[in-house]
Amino acid sequence: MQSRFNIGVVGDQPICCILRHLHSGIVAHCTDFGDALRVGGVVAYSKDMARIIVTAPQLMSVVNGELPGHEVVGGDHFMDRQELSDQIVDADALLTSLSDPLDAEMIGRGKNLKVIGQCAAGFNNIDLDAAKQAGITVTSTPGVLHEATADLAFTLLLEVTRRTSEAERWVRAGKAWRYDHTFMLGAGLQGATLGIVGLGQIGEAMARRAAAFGMNVIYNARHDKDVTAIDAVNPNTQPTRRVELSELFATSDVVSLHCPLTDKTHHLVDADALAAMKKTAYLVNTARGACVDEAALVSALASGEIAGAGLDVFEDEPTINADLLTMENVVVLPHIGSAALPTREAMSRLAARNIAKVLDGKPAETPVG
Ligand code: GLV
Repeated sequence: MQSRFNIGVVGDQPICCILRHLHSGIVAHCTDFGDALRVGGVVAYSKDMARIIVTAPQLMSVVNGELPGHEVVGGDHFMDRQELSDQIVDADALLTSLSDPLDAEMIGRGKNLKVIGQCAAGFNNIDLDAAKQAGITVTSTPGVLHEATADLAFTLLLEVTRRTSEAERWVRAGKAWRYDHTFMLGAGLQGATLGIVGLGQIGEAMARRAAAFGMNVIYNARHDKDVTAIDAVNPNTQPTRRVELSELFATSDVVSLHCPLTDKTHHLVDADALAAMKKTAYLVNTARGACVDEAALVSALASGEIAGAGLDVFEDEPTINADLLTMENVVVLPHIGSAALPTREAMSRLAARNIAKVLDGKPAETPVG
């Protein structure tokens, strides 16, 4: 007696056509793996179909749209180390998030791994040397998130210098207020100096915003950068200049970090740097928490060594130093630099497209390194 079972087929590869002929009437063409599982007791897929692990919550309609015909797993929860370590074993590709622990040991488990598509600008969670040695392409998502991240950095700059979070807390707490010439005075921006550490895409976008608000920009970077677009924003600001870090810390009214986290930038803002800053100066960090020595920052803020801080990133996320949370002159945000919907869609699309291209034997659009 012939036993019959349903077969769910994902993708349009030749094997699917063969199965359709062999099992006419019982083979359903499915758009994704879950669909196939629902339809069939058996799921068939061709050898061209890759297994892609999405390690954290993702905009899955966008991701799936870029990866038709592949098996895409996850995307609805954060995978912890154990789950990632189990999943990576059979993965052809990973679509990753910035807190995934992709160290040498983890990467070593991915014997089939061809590409890591990091959905972020930064990739300090990935051991690039280990990936390179294993012949794995690593990609990230530059070019699509700098404007949104600079918007958020400038929001922090405005909030902390004009005390808007503190003022809002005051109102919401029902504290007495009236229009008062001397109440909640903040710092002015026109003619003030913004010191940018790292004039990449995000730093440059931040500088353009600052110039529009009448701030003069100085920056620290390894090489001179093209500052034409910054200087074109406002005829009333001074030409943008590259300076040594010591001058940047000593003369800026606001220091804003836009550098990657590397061995060189770890604790770049330490007790000495904070001591060198003006007492009236502010620190804005939308880069990586560990670029700042958080304990030193707490001391500097507590002792009035600097005037305030606007922080979107922290050394030990999601934990935030408890003292920071009690300080009125500190604005804290939960790492939402690029969290604008169109930006996150563009990031998801680019990360998935990079994966699709590498799996297809083509060069990635935005490889790292
Ligand atoms: C976020 O922090 C990113 O690197 O994109």
